[in-house]
Amino acid sequence: MKPFSQFFIFLVIVLATSYIDAFTRNDFSEDFLFGAATSAYQWEGAADEDGRTPSVWDTFSHSYDTGNGDVACDGYHQYKEDVKLMADMGLQAFRFSISWTRLIPNGRGPINPKGLLFYKNLIKELRGHGIEPHVTLYHYDLPQSLEDEYGGWINRKIIEDFTAFADVCFREFGDDVKLWTTINEATIFAIASYGEGVAPPGHCSPNKFINCSTGNSSTEPYLAGHNMLLAHASASKLYKLKYKIKQRGSIGLSIFAFGLSPYTNSKDDEIATQRAKAFLFGWMLKPLVFGDYPDEMKRTLGSRLPVFSEEESEQVKGSSDFVGIIHYTTFYVTNRASASIFPIMNQGFFKDMGVYMISAGNSSLFEWEATPWGLEGVLEHLKQSYNNPPIYILENGKPMKHDSMLQDIPRVEYIQGYIGAVLNAIKNGSDTRGYFVWSMIDVYELLSGYTTSFGMYYVNFSDPGRKRSPKLSASWYSGFLNGTIDVVSQDSTQLQSNFSASSSL
Ligand code: NOJ
Repeated sequence: MKPFSQFFIFLVIVLATSYIDAFTRNDFSEDFLFGAATSAYQWEGAADEDGRTPSVWDTFSHSYDTGNGDVACDGYHQYKEDVKLMADMGLQAFRFSISWTRLIPNGRGPINPKGLLFYKNLIKELRGHGIEPHVTLYHYDLPQSLEDEYGGWINRKIIEDFTAFADVCFREFGDDVKLWTTINEATIFAIASYGEGVAPPGHCSPNKFINCSTGNSSTEPYLAGHNMLLAHASASKLYKLKYKIKQRGSIGLSIFAFGLSPYTNSKDDEIATQRAKAFLFGWMLKPLVFGDYPDEMKRTLGSRLPVFSEEESEQVKGSSDFVGIIHYTTFYVTNRASASIFPIMNQGFFKDMGVYMISAGNSSLFEWEATPWGLEGVLEHLKQSYNNPPIYILENGKPMKHDSMLQDIPRVEYIQGYIGAVLNAIKNGSDTRGYFVWSMIDVYELLSGYTTSFGMYYVNFSDPGRKRSPKLSASWYSGFLNGTIDVVSQDSTQLQSNFSASSSL
């Protein structure tokens, strides 16, 4: 008997005997999608192969010493092996993104046949294994040429270029793709990339922590965010006019959503939490659902917040068939002077929001603690305040030090806690339709390079072959999906003592 199967049997016995509040895959509807995610720059590698040109993420990563995505997991060459791992795990869906510069190397204009072939092959391979592709069009990797030409997302010209890129994707891949996310975690993308300077392209106001060559932290996040909403709406309109009837897919925008809860039961903290929700969720959701920015933001930002024309407002309103949620952890909110959660600078979004955020789980930026009740709160808030939109949890997972220890028990506890939270939310009426673990395998991480990772498969980044090895989380998720284990809030020491077979490399 393989050590892997042996482990399952151990787990089944332990879990079947030790529980309360158990749930199984069968407690979710059959069409609820369970999957896992990666993104192009973080997974593919082959950065300058077959006609791909640099994105702002290549430029950004090469200017820091956190490593880069030149080779990453080598997914470009190993996609077939990875799809096989997904199929063996029982994944129903795989979320990945399309590298704009692999498909259209100059940002606009001619299509790269080899890039096109890669994504067609990947999608075919997924479909061949019965795995639903969930495609993100934009995941931090703007063509460097467009950044150089006009400043990328802070210029309205991006709307036309993004829509043309989306058009190619819908036309070429749309017969086999039913789920499209236009922009990954648009909210935190605008903040981190155009306010804090910690994500590509690294814009921020001059400050003593980060060497940003360009930027204005008090205006650019709002400008970039505005253009993202318009670009999303424009791509969505195109999809609906030209493709939807035939292709029958859905298109949504994704936002980053912390759990938010008042620090005390004082009126002040309650109001501060509402303000934080307006800034962190309402900024994008209010326009998508109701056609305009939240009043709290208009009042605070004045002319720094762009204004939608009537026509734009109509176009943005209703442009998301679903809301994608990227969720990792929860903060308590109190009505004190603000501080950035990126402990870098404090001149932009977080100062404007004007609240103080205290981690609910002693989390550092690189070590999110599980607080599943926070996700339940987000889903309840979206249900109540934004007309209960269809939701996909597009990312959720636990960062841990990247090493060869395969017993990622905290990650297993984290994931099962959050899946339980999603189930509770659904029972309470949330229209949540899918859940994706970040990440399918260890990848080049956005904020931490190769030092921390979220993967259910360990990747040996020192090995030229980038060998993959399953962690406990992979076996756990697989067992859950295949219905061979009940999920319960099990005791981690039991889990640990029964995971003896393949505990490290
Ligand atoms: C956010 C981003 O979408 C992804 O690129 C990143 O690696 C993970 N979440 C973890 O920070």
